Amino acid sequence: AAAAAQPAPAVPVADGVGGGMPKTPPAKRTAKDFIFGKVIGDGCYSTVYLAKDIHTQKEYAIKVCEKRQIIKEKKGEYVKREKDALNMLFNVPHGFVKLFCTFQDRERLYFVLSYAKNGELLPYINKVGSFELNVAKFYAAELVLALEKMHARGIIHRDLKPENILLDEKMHLQIADFGSSKILRPQDLSGEHRAERGDDDSPSSERERERKMSFVGTAEYVSPELLRHREDTRASDLWALGCIIYQMISGLPPFRGPNEFLTFQKILKLDYDFPEGFPADAKDLVEKLLVLDHTKRLGVNDKGDTYSSIRNHPFFEGIDWNKVSEQNPPKIS
Ligand code: ADE
Repeated sequence: AAAAAQPAPAVPVADGVGGGMPKTPPAKRTAKDFIFGKVIGDGCYSTVYLAKDIHTQKEYAIKVCEKRQIIKEKKGEYVKREKDALNMLFNVPHGFVKLFCTFQDRERLYFVLSYAKNGELLPYINKVGSFELNVAKFYAAELVLALEKMHARGIIHRDLKPENILLDEKMHLQIADFGSSKILRPQDLSGEHRAERGDDDSPSSERERERKMSFVGTAEYVSPELLRHREDTRASDLWALGCIIYQMISGLPPFRGPNEFLTFQKILKLDYDFPEGFPADAKDLVEKLLVLDHTKRLGVNDKGDTYSSIRNHPFFEGIDWNKVSEQNPPKIS
């Protein structure tokens, strides 16, 4: 007998195959929709390729994760976190790499991201040695604006560093790599320092604890509270901001040791100093961000969704906060 007609599924399926849907959504993309080019990034559990959409000729950065490796190294939570954070930021107009779609095949997961044509901020710092003050000021301001938007949505990046700050074709910055991010629960969005609790009512508390014990960001930018108590707070990103402002101006991050352990020791003792000639306003701002007690860092007690105490710091004098994202960035030199 001829095959009986399939009954329409009770619930419309995501790829639009099911009947009864008012409109067929666009088919899920596959790896065959792209031509994969050179490797433009490498993480501990992923590789990023430059890729071209064969239908539109548009360029993307596609992050590819091997499922086997994700499972073996228990990174599933990180991958999910990155997808969730990027989805929450998709409609934010400036400051972040965008996640356009995801798909998978038997072996791999794919994240289709906007391609930041000018790559990482780090080589620019290393090339010029240190940024001119107006350049450092501009990129610090773009970073503050991005942190405001991220933190307003309850997203803590936790691994901010010049390798994770990308530059688009107009040289505006885009924060990337949310694989280490933490998304605060709505009830933790205000009362910041309550963010860290036992989580004992959560069914996954054991797994969560394990993850907490294993996560530390990049040594040079990691905050003292993350090192000491694995505390999740937006203030950790402000610590990293202090480190990055210091680095843009002096050429190197403030806390550097011959190995991670000694770098951590320096961070915990706030053992760093300013090179001669470091501008006074910049020094004052960095000193107010690199404060061991995260509840006393500049910005943490600001009300609303802007870091007004950071915006109003004398270092940012001359910055028009409403125009930063639209203006032409000063040339890096
Ligand atoms: N490296 C990692 N992600 C990237 C992106 N989205 N654009 C350019 N380079 C990258």
